Amino acid sequence: MTETETPYGTASILLASNRGPVSYTVEDDGTLSAKRGGGGLVSGLSAIGDEIDHVWVCAALSEGDRAAVRQGSVTDPALRMLDIDAGTFARAYNGIANSTLWFVNHLLYHTPVAPVFGTAFRREWASYESYNSAFAEELARQAGEGAAVLVQDYHLTLTPRLLRSLRPDLRIGHFSHTPWAPPDYFRLLPDDVAEEVLTGILGADHAGFLTLRWAQAFADCCVAVLGAEVSDDLVVRYGGRSTQLAVHPLGADAEFLRERAHRPDVDARLAALEAAVGDRKTIVRVDRTELSKNIVRGLQAYQHLLRSRPEWLDRVVHIAFAYPSRHDLPEYREYTAAVLRTAQEINDEFGTSEWQPVLLHVQDDFPRSLAAYRMADVALVNPIRDGMNLVAKEVPVVSDSGVALVLSREAGAFAELGDDSFPVNPYDVIQTADALHAALSLPDGERAERTKRLAAASTALPPTAWFLEQLHALQG
Ligand code: F6P
Repeated sequence: MTETETPYGTASILLASNRGPVSYTVEDDGTLSAKRGGGGLVSGLSAIGDEIDHVWVCAALSEGDRAAVRQGSVTDPALRMLDIDAGTFARAYNGIANSTLWFVNHLLYHTPVAPVFGTAFRREWASYESYNSAFAEELARQAGEGAAVLVQDYHLTLTPRLLRSLRPDLRIGHFSHTPWAPPDYFRLLPDDVAEEVLTGILGADHAGFLTLRWAQAFADCCVAVLGAEVSDDLVVRYGGRSTQLAVHPLGADAEFLRERAHRPDVDARLAALEAAVGDRKTIVRVDRTELSKNIVRGLQAYQHLLRSRPEWLDRVVHIAFAYPSRHDLPEYREYTAAVLRTAQEINDEFGTSEWQPVLLHVQDDFPRSLAAYRMADVALVNPIRDGMNLVAKEVPVVSDSGVALVLSREAGAFAELGDDSFPVNPYDVIQTADALHAALSLPDGERAERTKRLAAASTALPPTAWFLEQLHALQG
């Protein structure tokens, strides 16, 4: 090494997230096929792809990904896929990220029986620490001097602090795509774990959230658990360092969505859905089959609507796309079964030879989702709790003739879209049924006006601007 060389890498902007922009599958003939990674985080970050020169560090999530790394098939120099030991990855991802931290921040525990933090949990936690260290080490290797590193989400809460200890020269940001729990609930976590999660994120210079509500909850946890100081402008001071908290409400990508929603594959699916629905109104929902999305109560609300207001019999179809997710976890498998069961019950109770009240599809199909967005009279978005919920923002953007939005007040999107929606308490199925009735009954003119305002609010901060806002805040 000469005097001017440093042991550092060369990247000046780095991203880190569990799921990367591409995933690989081993086909039956042994070859590898690649497809775009799924989910809100990946869609948001992928939009910056060509415009901003960056290196993206992600994990190998499957045997296909691991095979791709080992065979040297991941050739994009801007992508570093970490081949973390499969057992360590599973314990970190399923055990800690998707069970413990997801459950805490979405308030999903049924507390008389769960959580139980025993020896199995401790093994998972140790794996989560190793997994976060693997990210910190790779980022430290790839980053040029003074580079900006943007670490994403609840999978990587420890990485900012670990990275700072390896590379104090870096500017480090963290962004939470989920809600944040209030202190009383967050303190379900073992004390040392609660402290590690908070101090992990406080290793960042800048910590972003989707709404003020989640940022404030994080600040409250820092005060309650760590005894940190928080100023009115949301600077958290702890352990001789300060971290600026900020709100960056990720919006929908109008340009991409409108172009994609008018391609022939979407038109074909739209024609098929229209043929199935006939001359009836539509209530549309599109979700991963995720406990927090509250799909079962949404179906129960629709069932209550049909029972309590028979004028809607044979005049409405509920199109529900519920794409399987996290089926390694038994709670998710059971939830998918409950969704299927409830939809079947409604069809058995009300269906006729002419009319199927619920059209439920579980096979993931993005063009079909866009077709449903275009034709929805009503969109139902009723999560128990959600960081943002991009479906609520996407539907008004691509709607063909206006949509009425029934929206949970517990979704992050409610902060921006609440005024033009039909708000619901997600646990109250009678109120949700009433909101569905009001939304179905909305006069066309007012629906069109509301849709215009919803679309404008939904696209206020498109993904590239959302990312640049954080980058600029970080670079000062
Ligand atoms: O809500 C936060 C988020 O990161 C989404 O962007 C994403 O859809 C999900 O959580 C993670 O899902 P998965 O476990 O399938 O990567």
